[in-house]
Amino acid sequence: MAHDLAIRGGTLATATETFNADIGIRNGRIVTISEAITDAKDVIDATNHIVMPGGIEAHCHIAQESGMGVMTSDDYETGSISAAFGGNSCFVPFAAQKVGESLAQTMQTYDERAVPKSVLDWSYHLILTDPTPDVLAELPDVFAKGVTSFKVFMTYATRVSDGQFLDILSVAGRHGALTMVHAENHDMLDWMGRRLVEGGNVAPRHHASSRPSLAEEEAINRAISLARLAQAPLFIVHVSTAGGAKLVANARSEGGQVWAETCPQYLFLTRNELDKPGMEGAKFICSPPLRDTPTQKILWQHLQAGSLSLVSSDHAPYRYDDTGKFNGGYDVDFRKIANGMPGIEMRLPLLFSEGVNKGRISLNKFVALSSTNAARIYGMLPRKGSLSIGADADIAIWDPNEKRIAGEMHDAMDYNPFAGTEVTGWPVTVLGRGQRIVDNGKLIAKPGAGQFIKRAPIDLTEHPGQSVPELNPDQNFGVNLA
Ligand code: URP
Ligand code: ZN
Ligand code: ZN
Repeated sequence: MAHDLAIRGGTLATATETFNADIGIRNGRIVTISEAITDAKDVIDATNHIVMPGGIEAHCHIAQESGMGVMTSDDYETGSISAAFGGNSCFVPFAAQKVGESLAQTMQTYDERAVPKSVLDWSYHLILTDPTPDVLAELPDVFAKGVTSFKVFMTYATRVSDGQFLDILSVAGRHGALTMVHAENHDMLDWMGRRLVEGGNVAPRHHASSRPSLAEEEAINRAISLARLAQAPLFIVHVSTAGGAKLVANARSEGGQVWAETCPQYLFLTRNELDKPGMEGAKFICSPPLRDTPTQKILWQHLQAGSLSLVSSDHAPYRYDDTGKFNGGYDVDFRKIANGMPGIEMRLPLLFSEGVNKGRISLNKFVALSSTNAARIYGMLPRKGSLSIGADADIAIWDPNEKRIAGEMHDAMDYNPFAGTEVTGWPVTVLGRGQRIVDNGKLIAKPGAGQFIKRAPIDLTEHPGQSVPELNPDQNFGVNLA
């Protein structure tokens, strides 16, 4: 039977190998990988281009109210379009529970936001802000619908207590679900913030000092301990410190069920950006805050060594106006400026340019960090994140030599924190289930073309977990706590 589409003459890159072959697609799936496919109804010439699994953006805030109640500028249409122009074929934004709301209500709200608008296939990570017993009892239903990851905050107004965190970990762990955490010690941040503001230090640049590395390191250590006690897998989002990354590496080297990511802003920007004139530094307020050049070097080492598994954007788009950054007013201290910056379209080009082209990571590691590891951790492999027979034809075709100075993106933002950076290597064509989403700078897919992806439980093979003696009946006077 003829192929619907063939991608011919490209260099294929997976998370493990690079080789020359054609890809044949039928009914939205990869059905042939061979030397020459000559029977396709439609052909993409990928000569001198790299053909790889489309990126999976696994940390982004789309059509979501922040902890401060500010709505992101991007909805599922602009957010998914911008992601596609940045080489992604699938994304996993957050669905944030409002206090008092059931998880069924939360899911319905986000379905209404996503279904008519997304050009990408998507899933959600569910943010839990109000883990009452009734809400915890709903978790298995959510899990059965294929939403197999939950996120909690250790800071912001929407934070959970350690006890609530343990309850969530325990229920999620029993059902094979993954708990994600924003790890910063809330009281340390609050205390530092108050001291700075009381001393008149209110400008955006003080945001960085108000959220010390120690606060992240303490919270990561605590989160890993809580997950170990609950015997549950844990994912630490946006690791920004050397100490935090080391804690993750140590736990993983002892079999810990711990995964983590970092983000482009921690690899490519420093806290000096916060010191721009006037309120301009507000554009660079995100949490955890930007750090320094020595930290960037160490984060790269952890990506190279495999202790950090993903580079995600943490796209949190709040415009530089009163709908976003200055929702609480223009003349406010740094604590009242919306946290977050955009980056969904820049994530992969920056990682390719600075990572692959500058020799910090291999092309295969790029595929792992941008796509395959996310598919594995979040239960979508081999359907997503893979160039294998039977996989969805979610494919990004890159020109590794195209040079551009980063400027305006396709999101709904009014600034790009990476603007002015010279970037070499850009996606040319992105396919979702064998259909062109973007092609040579043009949007092809229509809003609503994306589908919800049901995800599987996390695969814990090779992650046996770390024992806790007191959970062993032989060591706790015979009590079985299972
Ligand atoms: O500053 C950030 N990262 N804002 C988005 C929410 C979060 O903490 O991820
Ligand atoms: Zn966060
Ligand atoms: Zn985030």
